[in-house]
Amino acid sequence: MSDTILSVSRLSAGYNGHIAVADVSFTLRRGEILCLVGESGCGKSTLLKTLIFSPEITLQAGEIILDGIDLTALPPKERARRSRITMGMVLQNPGAAFNPIRSYRAQFIEALKSHGKYNAASFERQAADALEKLELPDGVKLLRECPYALSGGMNQRMAISLAMLLGQDLLLGDEPTSALDATIQLQVAKEFKKLRDENGITQIIVTHNVALARFLADRIGVMYAGRLVELGDATELLNHPKHPYTKSLIAAVPTLEGGMPEGLAGQPALTGPAELGCEFRDRCPCAAENCGGRRYELRRTGENCFAACCGGEGAAM
Ligand SMILES: Nc1ncnc2c1ncn2[C@@H]1O[C@H](COP(=O)(O)OP(=O)(O)O)[C@@H](O)[C@H]1O
Ligand SMILES: [Mg+2]
Repeated sequence: MSDTILSVSRLSAGYNGHIAVADVSFTLRRGEILCLVGESGCGKSTLLKTLIFSPEITLQAGEIILDGIDLTALPPKERARRSRITMGMVLQNPGAAFNPIRSYRAQFIEALKSHGKYNAASFERQAADALEKLELPDGVKLLRECPYALSGGMNQRMAISLAMLLGQDLLLGDEPTSALDATIQLQVAKEFKKLRDENGITQIIVTHNVALARFLADRIGVMYAGRLVELGDATELLNHPKHPYTKSLIAAVPTLEGGMPEGLAGQPALTGPAELGCEFRDRCPCAAENCGGRRYELRRTGENCFAACCGGEGAAM
């Protein structure tokens, strides 16, 4: 089995002909947690939706190679089957994934059946084991509950435990802790980590919360206006950010000591990435005249780090 579970190459996608993510390339090793950060509207959710071939997305170009097979080259039915076997998704609001008024038990069984993984004799024990791992004792009783009756944090853990039961190797999380109270956020984040540590589950977690990425990520991808502008080992990227946008994003996080964030004026353009020119140039403290004519390209900035720009004189690299 190859060490690489997912390889995305030059992916461009959007809605009704409007491009929302462009030229995205990265690879993901088995067992790795990649966090995608960036302000609202930068294309993080669109990228995840593209990876699961959500019907609202139009794929414009690129390859999505999962377990060695290019999903974009498969007929839609086979592509859906393969991506369902390997990839699971946890949303910001688990209510969107579960029916609020049907018991978890019924919904878990239905999901397992659709994956050909339901075994009536062992279901309750396996489900209780998965819930126990997430520190939810008395799982059998919990399964009888309906989502509307449980808190957001509990619902999110039920969604994670379903992914465990389905045995999906790659979990995609779209702001999975954002709707939760601060204390519960940390607990759920710990559970994502546990899922990797104990079950080896690879993850792509989208978050606008740099502190969460610091806690969770092995690698971080920074998105700006539909492009991946920096990608690298989490520690290196957070301690030595290269791209002016990454620097602003990190500076905008309030410190624990109560320091005030520097903030980031303005907002990303919502028109989608242009063919030429850095999208960040209007907000960039290092912008130079030639930034409007540059072609996007991620270049190596360190052993495992890449950036589309390093700021400084004349910007670019
Ligand atoms: N369903 C949709 N239809 C049309 N445009 C959309 C839709 N969802 C998002 N977009 C647009 O795609 C761009 C990226 O959005 P999104 O992926 O949701 O960003 P993020 O998750 O980083 O906040 C934005 O310009 C947004 O307006
Ligand atoms: Mg989003």
